[in-house]
Amino acid sequence: MKIQIINGPNLNLLGTREKSIYGDLSFEKYYAQLQAAFPNLQLSYFQSNIEGEIINKIHEVGFSFDGIVLNAGAYTHTSIAIADAISAINIPVIEVHISNVYKREAFRHHSMIAPSCKGVIAGFGLISYRLALESFLQQ
Ligand code: DQA
Repeated sequence: MKIQIINGPNLNLLGTREKSIYGDLSFEKYYAQLQAAFPNLQLSYFQSNIEGEIINKIHEVGFSFDGIVLNAGAYTHTSIAIADAISAINIPVIEVHISNVYKREAFRHHSMIAPSCKGVIAGFGLISYRLALESFLQQ
């Protein structure tokens, strides 16, 4: 099974950024743990701070891979274009968040992309990604 993990804006700073919310591990280190934990999944990882690059990656894998795990960062709350890209492809997308967005500022309570996604996982720290990958194995 080929699964693409996509991280959006500011998630390149995991491990450095707002550690009390996002923890002190870089995604690169966590990604190595994920690869070891899921030897039966063919994982790929992409991060961009640029909305259009995230959309291009969704288009690129959206007709050939088996699924996408997407943390769109703040674009979650604003991007009709990413929501449209998810609706345009034919593989399932799981929205993930490290923090529990519902415990935070009101502007984080709404997701523009959730209606286009298969499901949403939020609030488990980096384990949110692991839970999303696990869901692909349970199908
Ligand atoms: C986030 C939550 C978003 O509201 C925020 O803009 C992020 C990270 C999370 O993983 O908790 O950049 O997606």
